[in-house]
Amino acid sequence: MKLSTSRILVTGGGVRIGKAISLALAKAGAEVLIHYRHSSDAAEETAEMIRTHGGKADTVCGNVATEAGVKSIMDQALAKGALDGLVNNAAVFNRTTLAESDRQIFLDEFGPNLLGPLALIRAFAAQGGKGSVVNLLDRRIAAHDAGAVPYQLSKVALAEATRLAALEFAPRLRVNGVAPGAILPPPGKEDQTDYMAQNGGKAPLDSQCTPEDVASAVLFLMQAPAITGQILFVDAGQNLLGNGV
Ligand SMILES: NC(=O)c1ccc[n+]([C@@H]2O[C@H](COP(=O)([O-])OP(=O)(O)OC[C@H]3O[C@@H](n4cnc5c(N)ncnc54)[C@H](OP(=O)(O)O)[C@@H]3O)[C@@H](O)[C@H]2O)c1
Repeated sequence: MKLSTSRILVTGGGVRIGKAISLALAKAGAEVLIHYRHSSDAAEETAEMIRTHGGKADTVCGNVATEAGVKSIMDQALAKGALDGLVNNAAVFNRTTLAESDRQIFLDEFGPNLLGPLALIRAFAAQGGKGSVVNLLDRRIAAHDAGAVPYQLSKVALAEATRLAALEFAPRLRVNGVAPGAILPPPGKEDQTDYMAQNGGKAPLDSQCTPEDVASAVLFLMQAPAITGQILFVDAGQNLLGNGV
C-alpha cells in the first residue's frame, strides 16, 4: 500500500499516541481522517497542524462503542471517498480486578476496546476493496495483569481477532497489531512526573518508548505487503519478561 495515495482513518487520532500516528501517517503522505469522541479541539488542532504543513486531514466524530456510532463514523469517513487504511487506536484503560468488576464494567471496557474495533473492521471490509488495518493492543497480552482484568481480556481478544480477521479477509485485507509497553501515563495522570518511573515497570532495553516509536511500527505494518496477522511489540522488550515486569 502506497501511503502517499491512501486515505486512513485513525480512531482517537487527535490525542496522545493517536496524534503521533496521525502526524506520522500524514508526514508519509497519507490523507488522515482523525476520529474523536469528546476531544474535538485536539482533533481539529491536529488536522490543522497537518494542513499547515501541506498535508491532507479531516476530522470525524462518534462513539466507537455503539453500532450507531460506528455507522456514523464510517458514513463521515466514506463521504469523500473509500478508505485504504484503518488504525484502531481509541480505547479506555481502567484498573479493575475481577472481584471489583461486574457485567457493566466489562461491557464498558469491551465496547470501545473490542466490539468497536471489530465493527470498524467489518465496515472497512464491507467496502470491498484492498486495505490494511492496524489494531493497537498492549504488551500485557503476553502477561497476566490481574489488576486490570476487563482491559487485559479486551486486548487479548483483540489480539486473537487480529489473527482471525487476517485469515478471514485475506487476500484483500492485511490485519496486524502493535502492542505498546508503558508509553504515557493514563489520561489525567500526565502531570505526575514520576508516574512512568513508578508504574512503567522494568524493561530489558532500559529505555522509555515514545508515541513516535509506536507510530513508526504502525507505519511499517500499514505498508508491509508480505505481513498479515502479526503483532509487533513496541515495549523495549518488556513482553519477554512476561509477568516479571
Ligand atoms: N498509553 C500507553 O502507555 C499505552 C500502553 C499500552 C497500550 N496502549 C494502547 O494504545 C492506544 C492509544 O493509547 P492512549 O493512551 O494514547 O489512548 P487514550 O488517550 O487512553 O485514548 C485515546 C482516545 O480514545 C478515545 N475513546 C475512548 N473511548 C471511546 C469511545 N467509546 N468512542 C470513541 N472514542 C473513544 C478517546 O477519544 P476522545 O478523547 O475524543 O473522547 C481518547 O482520547 C490504546 O489502544 C491503548 O490501549 C497505550
